[in-house]
Amino acid sequence: MPVLGKIRTRFEKERPFQGLTIGMCMHLEMKTAVLGQVLQAGGAKVAITGSNPLSTQDDVAAALAASGPSVYAWRGVTESEHQENLSSVLAHRPDILIDDGGELSVTVHTTITDLKSKIIGACEETTTGVHRYKAMERERVLAYPVIAVNDAYTKYLFDSQHGTGQSALEGIMRATNMLIAGKTVVVAGYGWVGRGIALRAKGFGAKVVVTEVDPIRALEAAMEGYQVMTMSSAAKVGEIFVTATGCKDIIVAEHFNKMRDGAILANSGHYDVEIDVKSLRKLAIASKAVRYNVEEFTLADQKRLYLLAEGRLVNLAAADGHPAEVMDMSFANQALAAEYLVKNRGKLERRVYPVPLEMDQQIARLWLEVHDIAIDALKDEQQQYLKSWR
Ligand SMILES: NC(=O)c1ccc[n+]([C@@H]2O[C@H](COP(=O)([O-])OP(=O)(O)OC[C@H]3O[C@@H](n4cnc5c(N)ncnc54)[C@H](O)[C@@H]3O)[C@@H](O)[C@H]2O)c1
Repeated sequence: MPVLGKIRTRFEKERPFQGLTIGMCMHLEMKTAVLGQVLQAGGAKVAITGSNPLSTQDDVAAALAASGPSVYAWRGVTESEHQENLSSVLAHRPDILIDDGGELSVTVHTTITDLKSKIIGACEETTTGVHRYKAMERERVLAYPVIAVNDAYTKYLFDSQHGTGQSALEGIMRATNMLIAGKTVVVAGYGWVGRGIALRAKGFGAKVVVTEVDPIRALEAAMEGYQVMTMSSAAKVGEIFVTATGCKDIIVAEHFNKMRDGAILANSGHYDVEIDVKSLRKLAIASKAVRYNVEEFTLADQKRLYLLAEGRLVNLAAADGHPAEVMDMSFANQALAAEYLVKNRGKLERRVYPVPLEMDQQIARLWLEVHDIAIDALKDEQQQYLKSWR
């Protein structure tokens, strides 16, 4: 992660977080551990927990703990353990939060409310978290400024699209060892995550079907060569389903009933609410684990459906998450956004802010530079030409 490495070198000298505590709630895998260490190198005390029960890698958590940060995470936490871990991170009385899904801030706003006035601000990693923070802003309850790291170009264009696209397919392949070529893959949601998954599935030779509720995104999918249909119709033809909407109840009982024998069900959205696993359990007359991360459900008509990673983010639960090259940019945004909050302490309102464009562009330039990619620069005459209406 050379971009983050450069930031680390500067942080070591400047110590922007000296005397501050940073509380993190993120998928605790290798790249996140590097971010924790970079923040620590910048002078912060770091306390961290995982943001999903199946995305913590225990060896990484142990190694991170050995390097200094306070770590409260292990694979397979229950909901109540997750809540306890969030409280343990907040017990360090953080000044800055780095959140994935808004988990830490929701806890601060609902239960550990005396922390509200201490927190300088928060940085949010994912679309679902940004939605939650915007809802807090709309209801005028947001207690501190938030930087929507997810919405930086150098995050969603690469991490959400190419990172999740590749790693979701990797998760499905590792879990099932199935051939993708020739299969019908149904992708629910054609946002940044969905389009990445659709593109990679197509690249492996799948016939890709997209379901959407947004007419413009549906149109984009159609013109990019995918079949667009309702989930009701897609349920009958799909062999592999991947949800990526950030919404709930995308695949429910009516769809399970229509599916073909052997259909594979995976989710890549933030929460495990996209595939209605409760209904699947009710409909099934039997279920058993058939491979690591694969559960087989037999329905009354003897049809078998296969759920991957309990319906939780398949790319993190059944693979290693996004490759380091894209997380280098996402976490450079996190590191610089946290520094920005400190530098602008007291000057920002209780709002959700975008990552400043100059910061986004600086990260893109650094990434190109460390990967030896040169680009042209506008000449003065060209700049004049572009500005002129004559
Ligand atoms: N697995 C990962 O590592 C990872 C990475 C990034 C984001 N995410 C998560 O993935 C989800 C999607 O993120 P995104 O950035 O692509 O969001 P997005 O808002 O860009 O796209 C979501 C798309 O889903 C569509 N949609 C919403 N409800 C739908 C429904 N009922 N049926 C069909 N389509 C529907 C929306 O119209 C939109 O086009 C979020 O939960 C986000 O937090 C996961």
